[in-house]
Amino acid sequence: MGLMDYIGKQFHNPHGVGGRVATLIMNIQNRGQYQAAETALSLKDGDKALDIGFGNGYLLRRLAGAYPCAFWGVDPSRDMLRAASKRNQKYIRQGRMTLLSGNAEQTGLPDDFFDKIYTVNTVYFWPSLDAGLREIRRILKPDGIFVNAVYSKEALDRLPVTRHGYRKYDVKELESAGNADGFSVEVKEIKRRSAYCIIYKKTEGWRS
Ligand SMILES: C[S@@+](CC[C@H](N)C(=O)[O-])C[C@H]1O[C@@H](n2cnc3c(N)ncnc32)[C@H](O)[C@@H]1O
Repeated sequence: MGLMDYIGKQFHNPHGVGGRVATLIMNIQNRGQYQAAETALSLKDGDKALDIGFGNGYLLRRLAGAYPCAFWGVDPSRDMLRAASKRNQKYIRQGRMTLLSGNAEQTGLPDDFFDKIYTVNTVYFWPSLDAGLREIRRILKPDGIFVNAVYSKEALDRLPVTRHGYRKYDVKELESAGNADGFSVEVKEIKRRSAYCIIYKKTEGWRS
């Protein structure tokens, strides 16, 4: 396996020392996306918020330090669950944060529970965009929102690390999948044609 493929795999399934290094690099490179997600979430006192694919738990810690909300997180990587739990132990002890093993398609969380759900750079690794959006719709409260911070297909195609194992989406695809799964969708450009925040609002009265 070449170096680029190794790094690409670490973004998909961070583990061991390589996973810790890869997630620290993400924390620096993806600052614009974290900021845009935070703004789009517009967290209010008492909101219940979920981070899907929290990685090393950097954004969870930042949000928990700034907003008096209750936080949950799911990630399929056992090493990331360990790293994020360590980073956020203060909030976990306070009973304000719950981190679990899970993924976008199967969170194991209750129906109509969250005010806000977000994810940063994980959608490329979901086995099915549709299954993930349906699961998110199930666990969002009516009027809840889901914020999806992504790089566009155009931007990812420029990065050799994304050659294998990445599902790359055009913004239009992310928008139409949301509409098909019962969301109204707003698109915010973070960086011209390369980084976006897609904001999905659960639509009432929609039937699958
Ligand atoms: C590129 S990292 C992003 C981590 C974090 N969101 C951040 O921006 O710092 C991708 C994360 O998605 C997780 N992941 C992989 N497959 C997933 C899935 N099907 N559902 C949710 N998360 C997934 C990985 O374990 C990893 O922690």
